[in-house]
Amino acid sequence: MDTPIIIVNFKTYEQATGKNSVWLAKELEKASIESGKSVAISVQATDIYRIKESVKIPVLAEHIDPAGLGGYTGKVTALALIESGAEGSLINHSEDRSPFQVIQDVVGICKDNNLSSIVCAKDAEEAKKLAVLSPDFIAVEPPELIGGDVSVSSAKPEIIHNTVKLVKEVNPEIKVLCGAGVKTKEDIVVALHLGADGILLASGITKAEDPKGKMLELLEGL
Ligand code: G3P
Repeated sequence: MDTPIIIVNFKTYEQATGKNSVWLAKELEKASIESGKSVAISVQATDIYRIKESVKIPVLAEHIDPAGLGGYTGKVTALALIESGAEGSLINHSEDRSPFQVIQDVVGICKDNNLSSIVCAKDAEEAKKLAVLSPDFIAVEPPELIGGDVSVSSAKPEIIHNTVKLVKEVNPEIKVLCGAGVKTKEDIVVALHLGADGILLASGITKAEDPKGKMLELLEGL
């Protein structure tokens, strides 16, 4: 996935589930094409296949399990994601936290299977600890700002700067994203100015009346 990038996390928003997820993915793809900027989406595992039938932008899973093949009822495997058309997965999102060992295992599985790994962290210190795993991306998101109207860029700009610094000290190849409450072009300009390689966001797009128009507005800041 090219950077700078905006990754839209569909979560379980009704506007981003089932048939709605396909419509939203198409709107975001149009915004990506019109602006010439990089956009990816992370979606529920059950929607990956149908979305991939309709768009070419990168589609990620919201979750992957460190499960093998065979007797692992209910788990989301790398093979299932690849067969569905996913290019990678979020790992350890604040709403779906995993123990360190699990994160290590799934980052390894992603590497072995050519899937992009986007590991989330709640602060700069956690991001530093996770950087030793060398995922493709680390996304820092203060949990208390997620889903709200106050952005990480305005409330906690230092967390972006510190995460970029600490992560790149461990491995300069890792791309750093930030997110939580991001709703404006200015939020994105600030984040990139502080060294972020992109943004992970959800409600700013999933709850927008005109998601394509809103995405075009946000992409101006990229
Ligand atoms: O995964 C993105 C996310 O947790 C941020 O959500 O709604 O604050 O943009 P939101």
